[in-house]
Amino acid sequence: MNPTNVLVTGGAGYIGSHTAKALASAGFRPIVLDNLTSGNRWAVQWGPFVLGDIADKQLVRRTIREYNIGSAVHLAASAYVGESTQNPRKYFENNVVKSLSLLDILLDCEVDKLVFSSSCATYGIPQTELIGEDHSQKPINPYGETKFAVERACHWYDQAYGFRTICLRYFNAAGADLDGEIGESHSPETHLIPLAIGSALGVHPALQIYGTSFPTSDGTAVRDFIHVVDVAAAHVDALRHLIAHGKSVNLNIGTGTGVSVRQIVDVVERATGKKLITHSHEARQGDPPTLIARPDLAMEVLGWTPKVSGIGQIVSSAMSWHSREMSKCLVETR
Ligand SMILES: NC(=O)c1ccc[n+]([C@@H]2O[C@H](COP(=O)([O-])OP(=O)(O)OC[C@H]3O[C@@H](n4cnc5c(N)ncnc54)[C@H](O)[C@@H]3O)[C@@H](O)[C@H]2O)c1
Repeated sequence: MNPTNVLVTGGAGYIGSHTAKALASAGFRPIVLDNLTSGNRWAVQWGPFVLGDIADKQLVRRTIREYNIGSAVHLAASAYVGESTQNPRKYFENNVVKSLSLLDILLDCEVDKLVFSSSCATYGIPQTELIGEDHSQKPINPYGETKFAVERACHWYDQAYGFRTICLRYFNAAGADLDGEIGESHSPETHLIPLAIGSALGVHPALQIYGTSFPTSDGTAVRDFIHVVDVAAAHVDALRHLIAHGKSVNLNIGTGTGVSVRQIVDVVERATGKKLITHSHEARQGDPPTLIARPDLAMEVLGWTPKVSGIGQIVSSAMSWHSREMSKCLVETR
């Protein structure tokens, strides 16, 4: 088994495709397994593609053997917080039951190095301004619960079977590949930056702002936006750490800086030269006023550091991607 042959579940998705590209650039061979429920076939460009579900045990086993896989990055999941509160069953099935099925096969096949996509949603309402990894984990939505459940399984599998995992708790991934080859393409889109850009470019209607009386500088929610390229790089560093016999660890992947919704609107308006139409609403239930990482541990353990996560860089890379995609659509519909 070769640990540089990496099974990348969910590698046709937004973060997964950027991770596959980063892995390939770093000398790994990403083998993408994805059922394309929310991913895109065109986003798989840096290694073999296997169409299928992580719960298809025969397929996963066959894939591991065929490609001599020695490590895994598990990103496949359902990832809409709002939907998870409407349909928790779907989330527990896809994110927990199917993840456990995947872990079973990894264990059976002696693939004992895993990087798992966890989330800041595992923390719940922050009790401190910056959230460290030792912050209590009390998720306030089913999505966060499912990520927490898999983290716990990984912890106990390490204790019992020596199954080493790095759980990366991403904050708000945003932006697009700096070469413009891939970017965010969700349907429906729920993330703030693509919605704001889409709104400025006239693709989406007015931008809905949920919560304008939070105890923040301008009343809107504050989030920690991390460039998807920096998120992808963290996976490369995490795999290298595991291959070098590093221990299991849970790590925040964020910048340590918060940006408000209103500030994003300003940055997008400046970048596009267009005034955004916004509609304000009550805050959504369970939406914390601020979510900002303390990212020091990832820097210390992995030597990782965000390199391109200035909000201007995030928005301009996303802008380039969305503008290019839009002009392609216009050409195709002519
Ligand atoms: N985007 C963020 O800001 C963010 C923040 C924290 C955590 N995460 C986590 O990161 C991961 C990737 O998120 P994303 O934003 O790229 O989402 P995404 O929807 O773009 O990617 C998920 C991918 O997984 C695939 N998939 C889903 N269920 C599958 C299954 N059962 N079998 C095979 N493939 C399956 C989808 O087709 C898709 O390609 C997810 O686990 C998500 O929970 C994302």
